[in-house]
Amino acid sequence: MDLRRVHPLSDEPDDRKLFEEWLRVQEAARRAIFGEEHSAWSAQEIRGRRRGITHRFTDLAAVENDRVVGMLSLAEPLHDNPELALVMLAVHPDARRRGAGSAMLAEAERAVREHGRRVVQVDTEWPSGQQDDSGEGFAAGHGYSAGQTTIRSRMALPADRHQLQTLATSTDVEDAAAFEIEASWDGVPEAWLDDLAVLEQRMSTDAPQGDLQLEEEDWDAERVRADLQWALDAGRRLAVVVARDLSVDRLVGFTQVQVSAESPTLAYQQDTLVLREARGNRLGLRLKARAALELMDELPDVRGVRTWNADDNTHMLAVNAELGYVQEGHLRVWEKRLT
Ligand SMILES: CC(C)(COP(=O)(O)OP(=O)(O)OC[C@H]1O[C@@H](n2cnc3c(N)ncnc32)[C@H](O)[C@@H]1OP(=O)(O)O)[C@@H](O)C(=O)NCCC(=O)NCCS
Repeated sequence: MDLRRVHPLSDEPDDRKLFEEWLRVQEAARRAIFGEEHSAWSAQEIRGRRRGITHRFTDLAAVENDRVVGMLSLAEPLHDNPELALVMLAVHPDARRRGAGSAMLAEAERAVREHGRRVVQVDTEWPSGQQDDSGEGFAAGHGYSAGQTTIRSRMALPADRHQLQTLATSTDVEDAAAFEIEASWDGVPEAWLDDLAVLEQRMSTDAPQGDLQLEEEDWDAERVRADLQWALDAGRRLAVVVARDLSVDRLVGFTQVQVSAESPTLAYQQDTLVLREARGNRLGLRLKARAALELMDELPDVRGVRTWNADDNTHMLAVNAELGYVQEGHLRVWEKRLT
């Protein structure tokens, strides 16, 4: 077995072939866990991410007898978290326990050290009621500790429009009328960018982080713009929904939904945050209800919204329950500090 570098952005025929096989391993491994409900990345999305400005990527394939049996991608944040490296790792279900996973991870950890970084994170996932221990045993066996467990859940769409409208405009808190919910598709007005940068940065400190060694992220208007642009370039449709505090004319909460071109019936609910000073006004609920309504109006083919939340994020999980989200599975982030 040998390890080869994968170049997702190259147009060379050999590079393209290797990349496509690398991608197929990723999908086969995720499909083995969640079936049709897998959340594999598409070629267009991987290429979009590689064109982005936020991370440096190193992609590796494990090749056995001319066949790609394993895939690994290493993402190193460039704007903040200088110690951190994020690993995505999978071995084809019919090529396991032959050392491919270990060989790729060892090479990734070597590269992480060489790049002067120390903290490596890797994910495992499994459906509700079923514990796929392949990833868990592997992670623990390689010195990783469970850092955070998130719950994956799904809301079926279309949902009851009247009920969503009631939730989106809920005024049962006295000053709810002081906030306005606004939405923008496939890009945001320039005037939102600075406020969104504050919200994104606060997302990295205010959302529960479990035991993970994550530092505050560093966001500005340009990063917000670039973060939306890579997703658009990757063929996604996306809506940003914000809560405006009318008394100071500032955005104090946001959420985002994205729909990939390759899976047009599934939306992903991304980050949601309400600034501490604006909490208690049911803005989390209003934002998410409005996002669901936006999807029903703009993309009527969407049949569900998938999201992940920390298992100790009781407030957000309560909001999800109120909206009709049903638990589907778990995702666990494992972490190792290299010595
Ligand atoms: C986790 C995964 C990448 C392992 O790949 P692999 O090539 O089978 O791993 P290796 O052959 O290098 O395994 C090395 C050691 O890890 C441990 N391990 C691997 N799979 C295991 C399992 N199902 N249960 C318990 N321990 C396991 C064992 O100690 C194994 O050594 P052994 O085979 O001599 O007992 C693969 O199972 C996979 O793709 N799983 C789904 C995706 C995933 O969970 N990725 C995140 C991994 S942290």
